[in-house]
Amino acid sequence: MAPLRVLITGGGRGIGRAAALRFAKEGAHVVVAARTSGELDDVVAEIDAAGGKGLAAQMNVTDLGSVEAAVWRATEFTGGPIDVLINNAGVFDVIPFDKMGHKAWSKMIDVNLTGAYYVTQESLNALEEGERTVVINVASGAAKKGFPGNTAYCASKYGLKGFGDALRIDLAEKGIRVVTVYPRGTDTTIFDGVPGDWDRSKMNSVEEVAEVIFSAVSAGDEVTDIDVPPPAGA
Ligand SMILES: NC(=O)c1ccc[n+]([C@@H]2O[C@H](COP(=O)([O-])OP(=O)(O)OC[C@H]3O[C@@H](n4cnc5c(N)ncnc54)[C@H](OP(=O)(O)O)[C@@H]3O)[C@@H](O)[C@H]2O)c1
Repeated sequence: MAPLRVLITGGGRGIGRAAALRFAKEGAHVVVAARTSGELDDVVAEIDAAGGKGLAAQMNVTDLGSVEAAVWRATEFTGGPIDVLINNAGVFDVIPFDKMGHKAWSKMIDVNLTGAYYVTQESLNALEEGERTVVINVASGAAKKGFPGNTAYCASKYGLKGFGDALRIDLAEKGIRVVTVYPRGTDTTIFDGVPGDWDRSKMNSVEEVAEVIFSAVSAGDEVTDIDVPPPAGA
């Protein structure tokens, strides 16, 4: 089978990096996109070592020009088509509503929700050219339930779920599937500096989440939403 052509936003670390390496193990051609080019270069070396072929495409998902340029580079690398788009880039903060300023609000909505719209829209031609094409949106348990201090994060992730539910209908006639994945707490740098009593030892590993993301590629048409199960023994 021809190698899968994959674009992953937020591919420089955490869940995105682990997903990139999971696809690389199958020989995929993987474009990792984020703002920090040093991290992307390191992941590309790991992708190549794991048996895939990697490309670093610097991208700020909140900047349409940057998204356009990075998607163009991605399609040059893949030869045109993208089979798997993973909208994974995300930011998280815990801010009680009476302290929620417009800057923090906009940042979470812009990165977590509007970023997915920009990247999917700019990738549409390449997705139409892909085979077995699937868009995978990385949401959160916070797309289904409210948490304290999470008005912006929950709004962005409920929004991402809604984006996916409607996108699925619009893209069905093009043969493009849309799957939303819901990680639980996962041990990554997303918690760095965020107020809260986080016990990362009880969280999922990034590899467990990557496995669920990878499973979405071969899932049947009826699979639209996948919850990440809790870690073994939790
Ligand atoms: N960890 C959890 O417990 C958890 C639970 C549920 C859902 N999630 C979701 O899973 C996804 C990945 O999270 P993670 O835990 O792996 O976080 P992470 O370790 O902090 O990684 C986040 C990634 O997103 C990128 N990113 C952030 N802002 C960006 C921007 N403006 N443009 C492009 N890339 C950007 C970061 O790279 P740069 O900073 O270099 O741009 C980084 O590569 C997020 O959508 C998050 O909401 C995580």
